[in-house]
Amino acid sequence: MRHNRDFMRRAVLHLTREAGLRQFLDIGTGLPTRPNVHEIAQDVAPETRVVYVDHDPVVLAHARALLSSSPEGRTAYLDADLRTPDAILDGARASLDLDRPVALGLCAILHFVEDPSM
Ligand SMILES: C[S@@+](CC[C@H](N)C(=O)[O-])C[C@H]1O[C@@H](n2cnc3c(N)ncnc32)[C@H](O)[C@@H]1O
Repeated sequence: MRHNRDFMRRAVLHLTREAGLRQFLDIGTGLPTRPNVHEIAQDVAPETRVVYVDHDPVVLAHARALLSSSPEGRTAYLDADLRTPDAILDGARASLDLDRPVALGLCAILHFVEDPSM
């Protein structure tokens, strides 16, 4: 778990510092912790926008902790399922400019998606 969070932190730092990304779509956010994606990215670039997505009602209940954006940036939370990408993109459009680069975060979520053919 610690290695996973360390990876996420390094990836967000790299994308923000080296690649210049200013928009993140983090699907499978999990319960808020410290630091969250927006805290890492906005520490480098306060104008960064982050949309968090999860389908767990428990995460939704704690989502307020993810909305502590810097004044220059923006954070939003979508209660949505990874398997409904159109709904996610529709919801994210209110906060992210989808004509500009967006980093897609799928940290420790893909193993939850079952193969319907199995
Ligand atoms: C192991 S946690 C990972 C949390 C965080 N990304 C991290 O790396 O620490 C996986 C999260 O994915 C969410 N999740 C699982 N399947 C999902 C789906 N189909 N759509 C949206 N979220 C999903 C779970 O609710 C859970 O919060």
